[in-house]
Amino acid sequence: MGVKITDTTMRDGHQSLLATRLRTADLLPIAEEMDRVGFFSLESWGGATFDACIRFLNEDPWERLRTLKAHLPHTPLQMLLRGQNLVGYRHYADDVVEGFVRLAIKNGIGVFRIFDALNDVRNMTSAIAAAEKGKAHVQGTICYTVSPVHTVESFMQMGIELEKAGCDSICIKDMAGLITPKAVTELAHALKKAVQAPISLHSHCTSGVAPFSYQAAVEAGVEILDTALGPFSGGTSQPPTEAMVAALQGTPFDTGLDLNLLARISGRLTPLREKYKGLLDPIAERPDINVFLHQIPGGMLSNLLSQLKEQKKAEKYPDVLKEIPRVRKDLGYPPLVTPTSQIVGTQAVINVILGKRYASVTKEVKEYCLGYYGRTPAPIDPDIRKKIIGQEAPIECRPADLIKPHLGTLRQEAEKMGILKKEEDLITYALYPSVAIKFLRGEIKEEAIPAA
Ligand code: CO
Repeated sequence: MGVKITDTTMRDGHQSLLATRLRTADLLPIAEEMDRVGFFSLESWGGATFDACIRFLNEDPWERLRTLKAHLPHTPLQMLLRGQNLVGYRHYADDVVEGFVRLAIKNGIGVFRIFDALNDVRNMTSAIAAAEKGKAHVQGTICYTVSPVHTVESFMQMGIELEKAGCDSICIKDMAGLITPKAVTELAHALKKAVQAPISLHSHCTSGVAPFSYQAAVEAGVEILDTALGPFSGGTSQPPTEAMVAALQGTPFDTGLDLNLLARISGRLTPLREKYKGLLDPIAERPDINVFLHQIPGGMLSNLLSQLKEQKKAEKYPDVLKEIPRVRKDLGYPPLVTPTSQIVGTQAVINVILGKRYASVTKEVKEYCLGYYGRTPAPIDPDIRKKIIGQEAPIECRPADLIKPHLGTLRQEAEKMGILKKEEDLITYALYPSVAIKFLRGEIKEEAIPAA
C-alpha cells in the first residue's frame, strides 16, 4: 500500500510562513484541482486560522469552512484541534467542546487531529468522544518533544491510550521540526507494535532534517505524511508535497498522486507568495539548526522577536533563546506548542528583561503550576513551584471537571447583545468573547496586506 498525503497548504503552510493571512478567496482558485488529487485529507482549519479570520481578516471562519467544503466535496477536510482548548488558549467547558465539534462536522470537517500541549489524554477525551459521536475520523496526537522524560516507551504508552480512547489513527506531531530519522524509526517501530491504527507524521523543515525523517518514517511503517505544496513548503513549513510524491514514485510507498496536476496547482500558488511577501519573515525561510538546542517551533521564534522589539529589547533575543529551555525544565518539560509555547516564551522574556528569574510571573504560569492545564510530563521544580504558588495545593483532576456547563449563560448574554445570527455565532462568542463581540457586530476591518 502506498503512502497517503495530508496536504497542509491551507492551514500550517500559510500559518508557518505568512502568519495565517491567506483569505478564503485566495484558496478557492485551487480548490477544484486540489479535490482531484486524491489526498488523504486537506488540513485547512485550526486555532490560528480561526483566530486570524475574526481578528484580522473580518472573515467568518465557519463560512470559510462551509465554502471550502462546497468546493472540495471529495476530499476530507482536516482540522487541528487543541483538545479541551479547542481553537483557543484555555480550557472550555465540555458543552462548549461538544457544540464546537458538532458544528465543525456540520460545516465540513471530516478529520479531527486532536492534541493536548502536555500530552495529557484527559484533556482530549471530551473532544475525541464528540468527534466519534459525529462519525468523523479521529486522529489522536502525540506532541513530539525531546527531554529526559519523553522516551519511546512514554510515547508508545500514549499511543495505546489514544487508541483505547477511540482514535482511528495516531499522529506524531513534531511541531518544531526536531525528529531525526533515527528517532522516528524507533518511535514508529514501537507504535506499529503497540497499536493497530495507522500512523501519520507531521514535521517542519525548520532544522532541515524533515525530508530525511519522512523517508525513514515510511520505511518504518508510517502510512500518512504531512506536506505542503511547493510555494508554501520549506523553511518553517512542511516538506514539499511534490518532492515527497516524486521521491516515493516507483517504490512500494508510491503515493500514486499526479505530479503534473500538483505542479499546475503550485503554479497557481506562486503569485500568492509574492502577494504576501511583506509577511514573510526571512528567519522563517532558512533552515536553523539551533532548533535542536532550544526546541522552539518556527512560529514562536518570530513571535518572540516581535515581543522583544516592541519593548525595544531586541538585543536580548539570544538570552531569551537560552532562557526558554531553562524555564521549560523548571516547568516539567512541557512540549512547546500552543498554549505552552506562549506560556514558557512569555515567562522567559520576563525573566530576562527583569534580570531576575520568576521575580514576576504571569497568571498563566501560576495556573499552570496549580494544575489548571493538566498533568506536567515531569514534576515542576519544587523550589520554583514554591516561589510561584507558595503552599497552595495544585488540583489533581481533569481541569475541565471544574468548569461548569457554560453555553446557557453565554447564550443569554449574547442574545441580550443581539449578536447571534446563527448557531455557530454562540460558539465563536464562547471561544473569543472580546474579539467575537466586535466581529459579530461587524466592527472588525480587514487589515491591509503589508507592502513587501
Ligand atoms: Co505544524
